[in-house]
Amino acid sequence: MKFFIDTANLDQIREAQALGVLNGVTTNPSLMAKEGIKGEENILQHYKTICEIVKGGDISAEVISTTFNEMVAEGKKLAALHPQIVVKVPMIKDGIKAIKHFTELGIKTNCTLVFSLGQALLAAKAGATYVSPFIGRLDDVSTDGVSLIAEMVAMYQFYGFKTQVLAASIRHTMHIIDCAKVGADVITAPLSAILGLFNHPLTDLGLEKFLADYKKSQS
Ligand code: G3P
Repeated sequence: MKFFIDTANLDQIREAQALGVLNGVTTNPSLMAKEGIKGEENILQHYKTICEIVKGGDISAEVISTTFNEMVAEGKKLAALHPQIVVKVPMIKDGIKAIKHFTELGIKTNCTLVFSLGQALLAAKAGATYVSPFIGRLDDVSTDGVSLIAEMVAMYQFYGFKTQVLAASIRHTMHIIDCAKVGADVITAPLSAILGLFNHPLTDLGLEKFLADYKKSQS
């Protein structure tokens, strides 16, 4: 399972990268705005900086246009920024056409804003590298997000699709564990949810005792 961090915050990306288990970063226009990154040049430079921090990782950069021609032009510009860039495209008709086009050009894509198995099927048929079901937002409307991940994993396996299931809109640590149980290829999560995986009181107690016993044995 690949671990991506879902943020545009450079300090958090550096902290996750330092853990040694990070495989990439996902961003979106809302996350960029949250960090106060404004203006095309600054946004493009921010993507490059992220690529330099997470060497070798896949970095999703989202298009903000919604028509085929504009998405293709914007996606090509993003892809040309750095070899690690994955062009993130919304699940709309022109988006699927653009994903097909990028696939033919050998440009990696991430189909975003996916909420159903039918949408996941379309993204895979277009050849998306990643597809991003938003599990937290499904949970928000009383629909089980993790069940969608399980259905997508089974469907892609059944048909032999190469598209990777990238569980997104993860809100907490248990979402990561539930996605691991059903075989998600990738999770993208806030740093807090990733750090939550470390926590167990028995680890803390056990370590405390080991260190205390060692100290006693030395006196
Ligand atoms: O990965 C998608 C994510 O950024 C959306 O998360 O919490 O706004 O639903 P959220």
